[in-house]
This record gives sequence, structure tokens and C-alpha cells, in this order.
Amino acid sequence: MNHARPALLPHTGGCISVPFLGRSRDFPILPMASLQGDVAFITGAASGFGLALTKELVSKGAKVIMIDINDCEREVSELNSKAGKIVAIAQRADTTSWEQQYAAYEAGKKIFGRIDYFFANAGIAEHPWLPNFNPSTARDRSIIKPDIVTLSINLIGQLYTAALALQVFERQTQNRHGFKGKLLMTASVYGFFPSAIMAMYASSKAAIFNYTRSTALIYAGKGITVNAIAPSMARKKF
Ligand SMILES: NC(=O)c1ccc[n+]([C@@H]2O[C@H](COP(=O)([O-])OP(=O)(O)OC[C@H]3O[C@@H](n4cnc5c(N)ncnc54)[C@H](O)[C@@H]3O)[C@@H](O)[C@H]2O)c1
Repeated sequence: MNHARPALLPHTGGCISVPFLGRSRDFPILPMASLQGDVAFITGAASGFGLALTKELVSKGAKVIMIDINDCEREVSELNSKAGKIVAIAQRADTTSWEQQYAAYEAGKKIFGRIDYFFANAGIAEHPWLPNFNPSTARDRSIIKPDIVTLSINLIGQLYTAALALQVFERQTQNRHGFKGKLLMTASVYGFFPSAIMAMYASSKAAIFNYTRSTALIYAGKGITVNAIAPSMARKKF
């Protein structure tokens, strides 16, 4: 069975049959080619998907600039002591701040040089943007300014990462895999479907999808790929 070359990482081929929606379906296995010497910039790297991805990339020979609003020094020292060399560095940054992300990029570049992959992954679940609907108390409450932190982190923070990635890639030559750079956004299945409890979250993820579709077209044929993933519910610890 032939499969198109996956857009995210260099591919070595193969497929696997797994149960999917009650049927056995063939899915491509995406074993990563050696990533020796490749460098990734991952936001939200202190836990969950970002940390799991960091460990996987390091195990394939890549180096990772781990960005998080929280500390990831412990994870960094574990990875570096296991490898016996510097394979990861931690940069504290709030992704909703362009200045902090840019400073994190500059620090990473000084240590590792070119960056092949940017993962715009940091995100949060729904933070209530309005008080709960309750007509019986509403008249006693003032009308408030909505809290849009969910949009700020899940959309603006990820777009800042994308803006950084695309400008960095534009300035790079092709690497040994034949590309200038790859950008991956973490969206969600709620980018496709409405949610009765997470309107801001679903809006932010839907926006990421259309941003990705549009930007992938703009950069097509330029050695730069832009993709998004749509996880459903996943455990936080891997
Ligand atoms: N876990 C799921 O079920 C699930 C499902 C679909 C999509 N997602 C998406 O996956 C991504 C990763 O989520 P996760 O499940 O690994 O969650 P997680 O909470 O384990 O990891 C998110 C990380 O992002 C960091 N972060 C949050 N706000 C930040 C900010 N402003 N600046 C820098 N870092 C920040 C957190 O400190 C944390 O380490 C998110 O975009 C999330 O929306 C998760």
C-alpha cells in the first residue's frame, strides 16, 4: 500500500492495521528517520503533548528548545544527563508575549543554530469568558468585560509562534532533508465540532485550522510546510 509522504517529519514508510470506529483500518506507520542534528522549538513543553514530543524527538537524535510558562529545568536536566550532552534547553516564556517568545528563540538559536521544526502547541482548556447564564441573578450583576485568555493563549500565542517560525524558515536554506522548515499547530477535534461547554476553546481551535489551511497554501512550494493536528481527549501524563 502506498502512502503519501507525511508532511510533518521525514518518513521511512510502512503501515499498520488497527481497530478504528469498529472496523480494522490501515494507517501509515510514521517511523521517523534519524533526526540527528535537527532542532525543534516546542511551546507548552513542560507537560502533556509537548513533553512527550520533546522526549520522542530527543530519542531520535534531535535537540529541543523547550518553551513553557512553567519551569522545565528538571526535565531538561534528565534529558541532558541521559544523553551525556546538551540535547535540550529550557526557556521560560509566556507565548502570549511576542517579546518573550522572540527572546526564547534568540537564546535557543545561540546554542543550537538553525531550527528545523516549530511546534505551536501551548494551550489551555476553556477558561470561562462570561458568568454562567442565570437570568434570575443577572439584573443584580454588572455587565462585565469578557475574559478572553483562552483565545489569547490558544490562538494569539500559537500565531506568534507561527510568525516566528515562518520568518525564521524564510531566512534559512534547505536542510539535509530538503526543507527549510516545518510548522505544526496543535488544534483539537473541537476545531471541527461545536462544543456546548467550550465556546472560546472551540473558536480558537477552529481558527487554527483555517489559519493552517490558508498559510499552507501561501507557503506551498517554498520548502516550508504548515500542518495542524486534531487530538481528541488525551491523558495529560505520557
Ligand atoms: N489533552 C487533550 O485532551 C487535548 C485534546 C485536544 C487538544 N489538546 C491541545 O494540546 C495542546 C497541549 O495540551 P496538553 O493536553 O498537552 O496540556 P498540558 O496542560 O499538559 O500542557 C500544556 C502546556 O502549555 C503550557 N502553557 C499554557 N499556557 C502557556 C502560555 N501562555 N505560555 C507558555 N506555556 C503555556 C502549560 O504550562 C503546559 O505545560 C493544547 O494546545 C491543547 O489545547 C489537548
